[in-house]
Amino acid sequence: MAEPSNPLDDPTADPFEVAAAAAADIARLTGVDHHDIALTLGSGWGRAADLIGETVATIPAPEVTGFSRPALEGHVGTLRSIRTPRGRNVLVIGARTHYYEGHGVRRVVHSVRTAAATGAATMVLTNGAGGIRHTWRPGQPVLISDHINLTADSPLEGATFVDLTDLYARRLRDLALRIDPSLEEGVYCQFRGPQYETPAEVQMAKTIGGHIVGMSTALEAIAARQAGMEILGMSLITNLAAGIQTTPLSHAEVIEAGREAEPRISALLAKIVEAL
Ligand code: HPA
Repeated sequence: MAEPSNPLDDPTADPFEVAAAAAADIARLTGVDHHDIALTLGSGWGRAADLIGETVATIPAPEVTGFSRPALEGHVGTLRSIRTPRGRNVLVIGARTHYYEGHGVRRVVHSVRTAAATGAATMVLTNGAGGIRHTWRPGQPVLISDHINLTADSPLEGATFVDLTDLYARRLRDLALRIDPSLEEGVYCQFRGPQYETPAEVQMAKTIGGHIVGMSTALEAIAARQAGMEILGMSLITNLAAGIQTTPLSHAEVIEAGREAEPRISALLAKIVEAL
């Protein structure tokens, strides 16, 4: 069946107007007209949504302007509005469009722009990723301290100069470290994917200062910063990166590591969100 057309596929469309329309859809469908915090849940982090408060509404992402159907099993296609015990509204985005899907970077960052349009000032980006540090183990959550964008693309269009000095806010990382002082930090390298990296690419990432390899997040973080949001990024290390672990990588292994770690890291994330 042909996919219904997406307004973001029209190159003359203004992506911020599409995001504003999506935010209006979310307000109408959830009955919540302002969100304070937005959370994108990657593989392994899904259960956090059940722990951060009371779900006010869950809506299928494709009912919201500009959102696409999820490409992958293990990526839930819903948006959820949750009210925390402290009375904040959290928009949980369980529908990520990855760059490797080939729909263009506007669709990749649409959820982030929509979150900003709902009023969210804080963007929490989570993912499952490969770890480069030998001491890391599958199932370990890591704070993203910075990123290296290896996609050769950007969500910024035209001469839009955005400062990324404190992209993954030191303030929010310190807050997470107060909740779990054992959390380690690392630099996230976004590769284009969908193939996993070669061992040589992992060595390159390591040489240029990377500690984590993945296929999301960096482009989203740039868009979130452009929208003026403060960003917290966390990776679940689902596997050691290619060549660091000597066995072959598989998507099944990544999903399984996420499943195994989910209760633990979701509880941690819920505590962090409560403290934001
Ligand atoms: N590389 C890129 N993306 C990933 C990995 C990896 O090793 N593991 C989970 N997502």
